[in-house]
Amino acid sequence: MRYIGNKNKLIPFIRRTLERLGIEGATACDPFAGTAAVARFLKKHGYAVTSSDIMSFSFAFQWAYVVVDAPPRFAGLAEEVEDDGQRLDAVLRHLNRLRPETGFVYEHFCPEGHAGFEHDRRYFTPDNAAKIDSVRRRLHEWRTGGALNDGEYFVLLTALIEAADRVANTTGVYAAYVKSWQPNAERPLELRPPRMVTGTGRECRAYRRDAIDVVAALGPFDLLYLDPPYNTRQYAGYYHIPELIAEGWFAERPILRGKTGLPEDEEKRSDWSRRRRCEAAFRRLVEAADCRHILMSYNSEGIIPEDWIESVLRDRGATDSYRRLEHSYKRYRSDRDSDVRRYRGDRVTERLYYVRTV
Ligand SMILES: C[S@@+](CC[C@H](N)C(=O)[O-])C[C@H]1O[C@@H](n2cnc3c(N)ncnc32)[C@H](O)[C@@H]1O
Repeated sequence: MRYIGNKNKLIPFIRRTLERLGIEGATACDPFAGTAAVARFLKKHGYAVTSSDIMSFSFAFQWAYVVVDAPPRFAGLAEEVEDDGQRLDAVLRHLNRLRPETGFVYEHFCPEGHAGFEHDRRYFTPDNAAKIDSVRRRLHEWRTGGALNDGEYFVLLTALIEAADRVANTTGVYAAYVKSWQPNAERPLELRPPRMVTGTGRECRAYRRDAIDVVAALGPFDLLYLDPPYNTRQYAGYYHIPELIAEGWFAERPILRGKTGLPEDEEKRSDWSRRRRCEAAFRRLVEAADCRHILMSYNSEGIIPEDWIESVLRDRGATDSYRRLEHSYKRYRSDRDSDVRRYRGDRVTERLYYVRTV
């Protein structure tokens, strides 16, 4: 899924860094998991991973990409879905063929459903909005009827959220929609199988909790990987539609407001995206962590000052174990890492900070 701070492209840099610094172990924690790209990599790399995030969509992704360790069997759908030996493909085919039925997404996030209001909320075409509604409703019925276990449910929910993101009429975040239909938005919604990591035998855990609670309560871990928000954009406001799809609207219909249909609740506002609070949050988290290695991704334009990051990590780390690595790349094309190197112009710089704890 398109996501601010998604580390998909930086996995090779993270892997090289683990090797270069000789970081090894059996357990890892990724408490700012987002799309679960790094948690998924860490599981593949050999760790039993504990992951978390405050976002509900992320909880679904963590289950699909990290916790689930065997291809889902969908035994509870044996009568409803014809099996050709590939259960997941068969269930996705069934969902992809559902008749569009208008509902919550249609009413709030497509121009036809939202007609007569000041803003047309042109996020999805009417067909795709109604299709998201019918798939989401079916998942809810299966889930509440006991036909799906946790892993099966979150794999299908992840497939739906990713499918919706591919046809969303946005430039990547949901804080605005594009005024005219873009080509991707006019394609039909299609659920595809998430790329799960199965057969590892590693027990992984997913949470929807504040990072500080997770690192303080669920350790010890060999490796703590931190990837907090680095700017003042609150994720809950930029990804409210994936979040609504993840949480559903069946028990209580959320009240949506304004041009983009934001829910009213403020509870997901993060200290890590507030200038006055992020430094203290960082120190609290590092001091609370029960782990051997701390590796942190942070963008060179992040709101926590670099000297603060260095001093907090040095305070917590063994003498001379602090490192800062940079990876610079032209957009879409990676080139190379170095210890301390500054790039300007069209280059993007991502940093990894490391310390071995005492
Ligand atoms: C830079 S993104 C992580 C990206 C992730 N590594 C990936 O590859 O997709 C930061 C994440 O931190 C989450 N977040 C913000 N505040 C948090 C908090 N207090 N506790 C846990 N997660 C939080 C956001 O929801 C967001 O998903």
